[in-house]
Amino acid sequence: MADHKYNLVPRNVPLVNTKYRRIATAIPVPESLAIFEELLRYEPISMQGQPPVIWDRAEGFQVFDRWGNAWLDWSSCVLVANAGHGRPEIREALRQAIDKPLLATYVFAHEGRAELCRLLAATAPRPDDKVFLLSTGAEATENAVKLARTYGVNKHGTGKHVIVSYEGAFHGRTLGAQMIGGTPALKNWIVRLPEGFVQVPFPDGFRCEDTRFALFEESLARQGVTPDAVAGVIVESYQGIGPNFLPDEYARQLGRWCRKHDVVLIMDEVQAGFGRTGKYYCWQHYDLTPDIICCGKGISSSLPISAVIGRNDIMSFYPPGSMTSTHSASPLPVAAAIENLKILERENLTEKAAVLGREVLSPRLDAIQRRYPRAIGAAMHRGLVGGLLMVKPGTKDPDPDTALAINEACMQKGLLMFAPVGMGGGCIKIAPPLITPREALEEGLDVLDEACAQILG
Ligand SMILES: Cc1ncc(COP(=O)(O)O)c(C=O)c1O
Repeated sequence: MADHKYNLVPRNVPLVNTKYRRIATAIPVPESLAIFEELLRYEPISMQGQPPVIWDRAEGFQVFDRWGNAWLDWSSCVLVANAGHGRPEIREALRQAIDKPLLATYVFAHEGRAELCRLLAATAPRPDDKVFLLSTGAEATENAVKLARTYGVNKHGTGKHVIVSYEGAFHGRTLGAQMIGGTPALKNWIVRLPEGFVQVPFPDGFRCEDTRFALFEESLARQGVTPDAVAGVIVESYQGIGPNFLPDEYARQLGRWCRKHDVVLIMDEVQAGFGRTGKYYCWQHYDLTPDIICCGKGISSSLPISAVIGRNDIMSFYPPGSMTSTHSASPLPVAAAIENLKILERENLTEKAAVLGREVLSPRLDAIQRRYPRAIGAAMHRGLVGGLLMVKPGTKDPDPDTALAINEACMQKGLLMFAPVGMGGGCIKIAPPLITPREALEEGLDVLDEACAQILG
């Protein structure tokens, strides 16, 4: 992750007033600086790094501050607000839970928990799959790793315990989630990584041009790992740093390899799920069937909740009381998730993402990339997620400064994205809420076009 630094000196940028965007002050807003200073004083520096906008209200596909500015949102609050920010249906469900009141339940049962598990089970690959609710994405990925290892060890003995993950992968920031992460610098603090966690190259086709599945097998062999030692493979359905998608044939062979060697295949859908890519789950683009699916973020479009959905035999090793969390199925996040899933369904947001991706986002990002081929190494996209990989001219080396400059120029024009991500911080990531109207998406792309012309010349 690059150390992105936005300019905190207010600039008199041109004022903007369109149907979807309004910039009415200097940016950052002079009155907001005291809040940033307070955060800097009381928080670890790690919490800095996002565009200097003080969120006051987020509704639909827009974010508002309290000084009269409105941004078209392309962050979805880091791919959370798939159904849009602050949906009235979700707010109403929360109000009802608050007014009952039912605010916390631990693992005591409540009706919402049963309803949400039923709704999620209906999205699972097998009719008898189980659903386990947690609070964060990292908890879900760690739990999936635990289950895969438990399965391997219980069924085949302690020799089958290796977890394979991918270079460039992100599965969260807790200890286990970082051990399976694919950015070595993020793991320096662990110092001695335990045996049994290996990474293989992700065949993104850009930085890793070798997209053969044989690369997976060769890479395991090079690390001295035999298939019978592998308990699980965990892979983001698309890698967040791109977004990087699995090549079809590679995915098909990965699925078959896991079956052949009784390896638990875990698809991390924390970022990719709930309609984002134009399929309900991104793994559905591929000819494979996961044994475990990790969900988070877009599951509620709002409050923190995550889920592990998986094969009954893998999910049932732990007896009553031994695989739980204090806030598992907490009533408010559950109420939010139930309404969110109903909105996704009722408004056909998966299909909408597919159409807007195919007809608007993908062709326009490709056109921008073709216009600046030396500065934009690749445009990655599917559904309503996209990324422009900024590179030092004519190379594949990331160019975080240019990525930041474009991202910042967009913010000054009323188009909000989170800070650039990916290798070296060179990826401008685009993730509008799935309810974004076509006209607003097109307006956002016009702004991105303008910012590229301004920065890239
Ligand atoms: C693919 C993926 N897995 C896991 C996580 C971790 O989720 P959380 O931040 O909720 O712990 C993220 C978060 O960005 C993610 O993108």
